[in-house]
Formats: sequence, C-alpha cells, structure tokens
Amino acid sequence: MLDILNLESLEPLARERLDPMLFDYIAGGAADEWTLAENRTAWSRFQILPRMLRGVASRTLETTILGTPVSFPVVVPPMAFHGLCHLEAEAATARATTAEGTIFCASTVSNCSLEAIAEASGVGPRWFQLYVYRDRGITRGLVERAAAAGYTALCLTVDTPLAGHRERDKRNTLRMPSHLELGNFPTSHADQNRVGSGHGSALAQYIAAEWDPALSWRDVEWLQSISPMPVVVKGVLSPDDAVLAIEHGAAGVIVSNHGGRQLDGVPAGATMLGPVVDAVSGRGEVLVDGGIRRGTDVFKALALGARGVLVGRPVLWGLTLDGAEGVRAVLAHLRAELDLAMALAGCAGVGDITRELILQSASSC
Ligand code: GLV
Repeated sequence: MLDILNLESLEPLARERLDPMLFDYIAGGAADEWTLAENRTAWSRFQILPRMLRGVASRTLETTILGTPVSFPVVVPPMAFHGLCHLEAEAATARATTAEGTIFCASTVSNCSLEAIAEASGVGPRWFQLYVYRDRGITRGLVERAAAAGYTALCLTVDTPLAGHRERDKRNTLRMPSHLELGNFPTSHADQNRVGSGHGSALAQYIAAEWDPALSWRDVEWLQSISPMPVVVKGVLSPDDAVLAIEHGAAGVIVSNHGGRQLDGVPAGATMLGPVVDAVSGRGEVLVDGGIRRGTDVFKALALGARGVLVGRPVLWGLTLDGAEGVRAVLAHLRAELDLAMALAGCAGVGDITRELILQSASSC
C-alpha cells in the first residue's frame, strides 16, 4: 500500500516514473501557469473558524451528490488518457473509486472504452464526461452508449472550444504513445493523437479538428433532450454562467478552470465558488475543482457551499505509483484528512460544515 504523508508529496515520486513528455502533459497548465499556481494559493486565503465541544466522537462523511450516495464528498474527475500512468488505465481508477465508495467520471478521451470502464466500476456510481464533437452523430452515439452502460449523469465540459496554450506540450511535441487507443473511438482518432502535423501538440490539433467550438447554451438543452441522464455543466467561473446553466436545464455546475489548463489568468474555483453558490441559490448542486490537495481544502469548499469536490492530478499520481491500490490510497488519505478536519472543527457530519465556519482573509490576498 502506498504510504502517503500528504498528496503533494506524490507528484515528485510520479515524475521519477513517467516519461517527461507525459508528466508535463498531466502536471502542466496553460501559458505562464499563473492560474495553475493560483488554484493552490486560493484555498489558503480562506481560514477555518472551528467550533468546540460539539460532540464529535461519532462522525460520518457520507452524503449524496445528485442523489447518489457517496462515502465522502470527493469525486474522481474526468481526465484524459489514464493509460499514460498505468497499463490498466481507467479500469484501475474505476475499480478503486468503486471500492472507496464514490463516483468516477470517465472522460470522453479515455484509453478504455466507456463500456469497459462501466464493467470495472461494477456496482459503483459513474458519470460520463462529454466533449461535443463537430459531428453530432458521434456525440449522440456517446450519450446513447453511456446511458446503456449505466452512467447516471453527463458531465458537459464547456471550457474547451480549443485547447489552452500549453507551452510544455508544444515544446515537447506531445504525442500519444503507440500502445494506447482512444477506447471510445475508431483507431483513426488515436492515430491523430499519435501523429499530428509533426510539430506542436497533437492533442491540441485533434481538439481543433474534432470538438465543436460553436457550442452554445442552446446545446445544453439539446443534450438534455437526447439524454435520459441529468447534465452537469463543468467549467464555469462566472456566477452568470452558472445561472444560465441552471436556466438551460442543468442539474448542477462544476466551478472549474480545467486545472489551469485552458485560459491562463482566470480566477481559481476556490475564489468563484461562494459567488456561484449564492447565484445558483439552491436551484442546482454546485461542485468545485482545482488545487484541492488537503482535507482542509475539501472542508473549506463544503463550508462555502459546495456539494462536493473533484480531485484530479493526485489520483493520476496514485495510479502511476501503484495502480488501483494507489488510487485507493489517495482517496483514503483525503478521506482521513477530511475526517480529522471535521473532528477538530466541531463537525460530526458534512451537513455541519457551514459558512459560519469559514473566514476569508483580506491580509493574505
Ligand atoms: C484534456 O481535456 C486536457 O485537459 O488535456
């Protein structure tokens, strides 16, 4: 079992194992990586105001997200190409997420097919993340396959009309290794990611060629009309966009800047979470991602009104270091940190984590 002192300590260990091009793809952000760094820093601007003598001998971290019971409010987010980290790819991540009692959101651009991921999830809850292709027949096909394979929500990523300016990937001429397939697509798609134009990032070229930059709010309604699953809109930062998502039928939103990989210079999810929660005002569930590395970060997100959080890169480092067991260790570690934070802050259940328990510090801004 991976012995984890803290989640940050996993990144340098994973770096030793991975080809530098692949490490950079996962770890990197857009342009100056200001937003990538800000995602971590923003959580530190909030402080927890603990309450005492509230009787915390018996605690539970269980809750529901979009009606699905989870053992603790941490979801494994959609991330591309788990096969870069481990031969078992998303199947390992899905098995681990089920074993830890939470939701795995499988990416459109997974190395395993969505059906193989569903099989690996077993009875575990799963969401499917959707990139909308210019060819709407492809999108419709993915939605139908996800519904048939028992996925319970569609997570529509709205912040990627084009790939962000990821300098590491350009410098490295990012290419997908030859042994990996794009599990949901014919081999020709994986070939585009292997070859590209010969310079720059083949992934960025694939995205520009295939994903639909014309996507608009009307398409959220279209998706809803072809999907038996609720739609969660991932990648909003503006409270106004969060409201639009709900008005166009979304069941929830994920406040996210795509791990600092899209537009550099935007605020962190941590910064926009409170304003989004206020704007949505209970009409849908609000989740957040970006820079969450500590149980105290999860606590802060819940105190600001998030229903749950998504934690990405540490899961891929765990996968790199020890496959499904590594992912389990990451999730178990985060659960233990959240449990301790709750005990020390006077919360016996996640419902006790309220806004009165958080302060925003002006001095450290
Ligand atoms: C794909 O979605 C990525 O962020 O690389």
